[in-house]
Amino acid sequence: MGLYASQIFPRLMEWVMAGEEFHRLRMELLAQVHGEVLELGIGTGLNLPHYPKTVTGIHAVDPANLLPKTVTERSTSQSFPVRIQHVTAESLPYDDRSFDFAVSTWTLCTIPDPIKALREVR
Ligand SMILES: C[S@@+](CC[C@H](N)C(=O)[O-])C[C@H]1O[C@@H](n2cnc3c(N)ncnc32)[C@H](O)[C@@H]1O
Repeated sequence: MGLYASQIFPRLMEWVMAGEEFHRLRMELLAQVHGEVLELGIGTGLNLPHYPKTVTGIHAVDPANLLPKTVTERSTSQSFPVRIQHVTAESLPYDDRSFDFAVSTWTLCTIPDPIKALREVR
């Protein structure tokens, strides 16, 4: 992987996605979530600090491994376990009826086949 893909792109994405309006929308959306949660495209883990205490576990998929140290720090500071698999949302490695909620924030626009991903979630 080149320098742009491994270092520059993930930092640019983190910078943009950490903006104030994104932050407000994350808080508003994630306040409703509880139980076992599937997150599509976890990115750099910016949603993690916004999950309420009623969440019992996050199971995230993302083919990329962006800023792994940052994601690990964000994951280990939560009160619930965070498990990440580097696979695509179009082919989820979970049993049916495993989750209470599915979360996707600014991910469907980057998934090559978003309809397939939504079918998988359903
Ligand atoms: C714009 S970022 C959003 C990241 C994060 N959801 C957020 O709110 O900050 C899109 C993310 O979708 C991921 N992604 C791309 N293709 C994917 C796929 N087929 N399945 C799951 N995630 C995918 C990217 O690697 C990236 O982390």
